Amino acid sequence: MRLFRTKPVNADYRETPLNRCLTATDLTMLGIGAIIGAGIFVLTGIAAATRAGPAIVLSYVVAGLACAFTALSYAELSAAIGGCGSAYGYAYAGLGEIVAWIIGWDLILEYGVATATVAIGWSGYVDNALSAMGLGLPHSLRVANIFAVASTCLGLVHAGVPSWIVSRAASGGFINLPAVLVILVLSALLVTGMRQSARFNAAMVMIKLIAIAIFIGVAVFSVQPMYWHPFAPFGWHGIMGGAALIFFAYIGFDAVSTAAEEARVPQRDVPIGIIASLVICSVLYIVVAGLLTGIVPYKTLNVPSPVAQSMLQLGHPWAAGLIAAGAIAGLTTVMLVLYYGLTRVFLAMARDQLLPPFFSAVHPKTQTPVRVILLCGIIIALISGFTPISDVVELVNIGTLAAFVLVCAGVIVLRRTRPDLPRPFRVPWSPLVPLLGIGFCLYLMFSLPMVTWVRFGVWLTIGLVVYFSYSRRRSMIQTDS
Ligand code: ALA
Repeated sequence: MRLFRTKPVNADYRETPLNRCLTATDLTMLGIGAIIGAGIFVLTGIAAATRAGPAIVLSYVVAGLACAFTALSYAELSAAIGGCGSAYGYAYAGLGEIVAWIIGWDLILEYGVATATVAIGWSGYVDNALSAMGLGLPHSLRVANIFAVASTCLGLVHAGVPSWIVSRAASGGFINLPAVLVILVLSALLVTGMRQSARFNAAMVMIKLIAIAIFIGVAVFSVQPMYWHPFAPFGWHGIMGGAALIFFAYIGFDAVSTAAEEARVPQRDVPIGIIASLVICSVLYIVVAGLLTGIVPYKTLNVPSPVAQSMLQLGHPWAAGLIAAGAIAGLTTVMLVLYYGLTRVFLAMARDQLLPPFFSAVHPKTQTPVRVILLCGIIIALISGFTPISDVVELVNIGTLAAFVLVCAGVIVLRRTRPDLPRPFRVPWSPLVPLLGIGFCLYLMFSLPMVTWVRFGVWLTIGLVVYFSYSRRRSMIQTDS
């Protein structure tokens, strides 16, 4: 059946117009760049205070296990299939077009919305820093208000702006300018070239790792074990609810797989990058979460910058300042790498003609997909600049978890349908490990609130409408049916 037609493995693998410049170290740094950000610097506090208590450490272990099983599956598929587009590409090679489309659509949600969300968080941190220096921005330039924009635009066309728009527009704000500017700067960087982007990323990753090291170095001498009692005030339910929320902190290791076409030796280095970045970040997360709930009462952590705040509570303003700087650097790399991942998935889908092929062009000089980068940049800048979407973290999580389930399933299916494929890396104890990945991811999905499922359902429905009305008819392999 056409829906389940697959693309030949490695079809677009050897030759690429992109620049094969990334080493295993670069890929690991990209992974750390995408992983450590708003999750640890912001969400840990909220999840500890409102869901898990000090047992947030266990939430990190549960979410980390889900990611570890999935990362092994990613590693096997990236080593066996490679190519552009990450899990989308694996699914197209092994599971068929419709599954590939669903994964690609999920990844667009994951990377696009996560980048916009993190841009808003970044803007908050930067605004705090500017205010501390007496350079705070006016309200209208730091708070998005799409109704104010609509009111202005409609007012330019004719005078009759509906009253419900006028009343919401009056609530203040206009544009989140820092969020827009940072996305535009990152667009320029990504257009310039992958080598430059990787260097910038590595420098920023070092800053955030230093910030985390400072936190650990200070906190380790300030632990008061009484803060760990009661350990799990909200029970197992709270631990799982916390895990489903802070799963966001792990998102990004999968973005390493979108770099397969720019890796020097993708079949060896992409698995290394995925697994190394996840292991390093998991260890750091568990240590930071344990210390954070051991140095201040967990109930005080429901603040926008809990890690820096805890240092202030301990009387170390210098450490708080350095951690805030590390958080800004961290959020910057998260945006950079997720935005990068978005462009590479989009590029792969455009090449396969599931999205308009106009966007599949790669600039011969910079060796970057300039059209896709600009299109995605403009959309993300508009979303983060004009909409208040900061509460959609769980929507990103559910989309990512759904893609992870399909990746784990892909390992099991491909072992049966393509036993002949060379597999430089094999998931140990398959199918047990991929099945555990599926189980953990589904459990986390079912720990998310109903509203998140509804939003996800809407996103998938839109995706299927686009697929059946546009992509399916134009697909590169449609004529083979
Ligand atoms: N893992 C990334 C973060 O925590 C998305 O910001």
